[in-house]
Amino acid sequence: MKIRRPRWRAATGAARLSEFVTVARVSDIPPGQIRVKDIPGARVAICNVEGTFYAVEDRCTHDDGPLGEGLLEGDEIECPRHGARFNVKTGDVTCLPAVVPIRAYDVRVVGGDVQVAPK
Ligand code: FES
Repeated sequence: MKIRRPRWRAATGAARLSEFVTVARVSDIPPGQIRVKDIPGARVAICNVEGTFYAVEDRCTHDDGPLGEGLLEGDEIECPRHGARFNVKTGDVTCLPAVVPIRAYDVRVVGGDVQVAPK
């Protein structure tokens, strides 16, 4: 049986360099803040956690709440609808009522630009 590697993954498991999309300047997203941006195929919530940027899908897995309108506390984002929480580094659920993780995206900073790799 032949196993097919997802197209968005390079052989190393990391996103290919050419796939990153610029979504903001570093100065656009202060520490502790979230900005929502569209990238090919998704809307993402970009989070500044003490100077390090993370991006997760802007859709709560509980009932499609807009996570980018929620609170960012440390490395957790809280859904504004019913209070589910997710780790923005991994997408893992950290508080009910959600039970399914959200997608976390690869992020890099190049020349003051925050870039996200669509998956
Ligand atoms: S929609 Fe996010 S907690 Fe319900």
